[in-house]
Amino acid sequence: MSLYNVSKEALIGSAALGAVFAVGLWIGGRQVPSYGILNTFKSHTGAKGNPLMGYVLDHSLREHPVLKKLKLRTLEHPENPMMVACEQAQLMANLAKLIKAKKAIEVGVFTGYNALNLALALPADGKVVACDVNEEFTSVGKPFWKEAGVEHKIDLRIQPALQTLDELVAAGEAETFDFAFIDADKANYDQYYEKCLLLIRKGGIIAIDNVLWEGKVLNPEKGDKDTQCIHKLNEKIHRDTRVNISMITVGDGLTLAFKL
Ligand SMILES: C[S@@+](CC[C@H](N)C(=O)[O-])C[C@H]1O[C@@H](n2cnc3c(N)ncnc32)[C@H](O)[C@@H]1O
Ligand SMILES: *[C@@H]1O[C@H](CO)[C@@H](O)[C@H](O)[C@H]1NC(C)=O
Repeated sequence: MSLYNVSKEALIGSAALGAVFAVGLWIGGRQVPSYGILNTFKSHTGAKGNPLMGYVLDHSLREHPVLKKLKLRTLEHPENPMMVACEQAQLMANLAKLIKAKKAIEVGVFTGYNALNLALALPADGKVVACDVNEEFTSVGKPFWKEAGVEHKIDLRIQPALQTLDELVAAGEAETFDFAFIDADKANYDQYYEKCLLLIRKGGIIAIDNVLWEGKVLNPEKGDKDTQCIHKLNEKIHRDTRVNISMITVGDGLTLAFKL
C-alpha cells in the first residue's frame, strides 16, 4: 500500500469520525458536543467514548495521588462537570513551573482541583490566592489540600472574585503575580481579564477557561449572555497588543495570554 493510500484512508476515516462528532456523541446519558474533529469536552465528562482522547490520557496523565483522590470525590458532586479537566490542569502546572511561578490567582475554585494542582506546582514559599463565593464547594477540597501538605500555600477568599482582585491591587500587589486562571461566572470574564492583567508581571500567564463554551461561540444566540461575553472577550483578546496568545482546544477551550 502506498503512502498516498494510507493517508487517503486516514483522511476518509477522520471525515467519518468528524461526521459522528458533528452531531455529538451520547456518552453516559449526556450529550458531548463536538464540532468537526475538535473535541470540546473534558476527560471526566465523556472522553472515554473517544478512543484517541483515551489514548492521550493513558499516555500523558501523571496525576498526583491526592489530585486523583480529589477528582474522584468531585465526581460524586452533582456539579462535577464544572471541574477543570485534569489534562488541562497538568498543562497549566507545567506552564507555571516553566515560568518559575511563585504567586498564582485562581478565579473560581469549585472543589479546588486546580487550586491544589497549582499549589503543588509552586515552590514551598509559593501562594495561590483562591477566589470563590461558595463555601459548600470549596469545603470539599480543603481536606485534600491538607492531605497533600500544601494547605498553607492556598489563601482562600470567600467573597466575589472582583472584590478580591481589587483588594490585591489596592494592597500594592499589581504586577507581582506570575499565573492566573480565570474560571468563574462568564458575565464578569472581561473584568477578571483586565484585573488579572494588572496583577500579572511581564512574562506572566493568564489562562482563560471555557473559551469555546461547548461550541456555542460559533453561533451566539441573542438571549445567551454568557456566550456573548465569552465571544466578545475572544475577539478583544485576539486584537489585544498587551499580550501574545494561543487558543488551545483542550477541555472546553483554553486561551493562554502571555503578558508582554
Ligand atoms: C467552573 S467552576 C471552577 C472550577 C475550578 N477552577 C476547578 O479547578 O475545578 C466555577 C466556580 O466559580 C464560582 N463563582 C461564581 N461566581 C463567582 C464570583 N462572582 N466570584 C467568585 N467565584 C465565583 C462558583 O462558585 C464555582 O465554584
Ligand atoms: C510576541 O509575538 C511576536 C510575534 O507575533 C514576537 O515577535 C514576539 O517575540 C513575542 N513576544 C514574546 C515576549 O514572546
